[in-house]
Amino acid sequence: MRRRLGPVQPDFIAWGTIGDVKAFKPHLLAISDYPYSARQALIKLDQNESPYGLPAELKSELAQRLQAQPLNRYPQMHAEALVERLADFEGWPQEGVVVGPGSNTIIYALAGAAQRVLDVEPSFAHYRRSAELQGTPYQAVPLAEGFSLPREELLQALAAEQPAGVFFLPNPHTPSGNFFAPELVYSLCEGAAQHDWLMIIDEAYYQFAPADMKRQAMGQPHLGILRTFSKAWGLAGARAGYLLASAEVAKLVRKLLPPFGVPSATVLTVELALENPGYVAEHVEKVRRERERLYLELKAHPSWRAYPSHTNFLLVATPDAETAFQALLKRGVLVRRQDHLPGLEGAIRVTIGTPVENDAFLQAAFEIAKEEELDKEKDDASGED
Ligand SMILES: Cc1ncc(COP(=O)(O)O)c(C=O)c1O
Repeated sequence: MRRRLGPVQPDFIAWGTIGDVKAFKPHLLAISDYPYSARQALIKLDQNESPYGLPAELKSELAQRLQAQPLNRYPQMHAEALVERLADFEGWPQEGVVVGPGSNTIIYALAGAAQRVLDVEPSFAHYRRSAELQGTPYQAVPLAEGFSLPREELLQALAAEQPAGVFFLPNPHTPSGNFFAPELVYSLCEGAAQHDWLMIIDEAYYQFAPADMKRQAMGQPHLGILRTFSKAWGLAGARAGYLLASAEVAKLVRKLLPPFGVPSATVLTVELALENPGYVAEHVEKVRRERERLYLELKAHPSWRAYPSHTNFLLVATPDAETAFQALLKRGVLVRRQDHLPGLEGAIRVTIGTPVENDAFLQAAFEIAKEEELDKEKDDASGED
């Protein structure tokens, strides 16, 4: 009997290193991976997701709609039917609406198209990465005291850095949770307009904040608003984000997005959510209330300090981010370290979860404080010997 050869074991294949493949632009090798590593934990507070998903009755409805969807067919080129719904929902001209599979894809397209990118520091990491991966010159202006906007420095950068480019500003700001006053932000937009820049206000968290800037952006070709279904809408898994801009800007961004790039399942999910938006305000209200509770309760913590937030997360300063991260993880609570960012030594970021999840976080945080205190007492005692 002839023996059949089994599949080749991957262990025995000599792949060589990427250095053997000369296909790629050399600058890409120096860029590190996206700063996130997935971990398993009972309580997941690491990605600023909503703790609440689509309500159960909407999920059932979605299952039925999916069943009726011919998945052997491509979706529309740029999700045109969804664009029409969104334009209606937002009260924005249809030609100025662009939908992508996550707002990250729109950021990437904008940063690739731009002659240069201006950012603040610290900021949402994807702006910088999108520029650097695509070889777009990148500059960041450090935020001032208390994560406030350095207006003069930013206006200077907009005037000095030519040719013009795209200026990304997350408002509410991530990773701090700060909210920049619309008048101040708009004065930067005027600076951008004066020097032919396009300013993109990333409003990923606007539902959790006191105001948004859609009204100011209407009719202002130098200002675009970026939004996502990943946070307040509770649809991070669906992957959908959108840009509200002038027709000209939208047309250009569409060119850079892959054709047929928004999956049919995503379109169905978002359409259903847009038909039933009532659940969002209710979920946002719960998250806001919990955010304030967490913020206030953390005031009693001996060594951790939360920053005020207008988002669905809290930035928390701790004596050491790695220690805090591991101690929380040991107690089943997964948060995100932020200490790789400039000026954020010791910082962790905690997504607001359900009340039960938040209680677990608080309990862990205060247990860790007790443990620290006991360790200190022990150290002090041994120092006396
Ligand atoms: C400021 C900001 N913009 C954009 C995104 C990404 O959104 P999406 O899930 O739509 O790609 C995030 C996600 O964390 C974010 O914090």
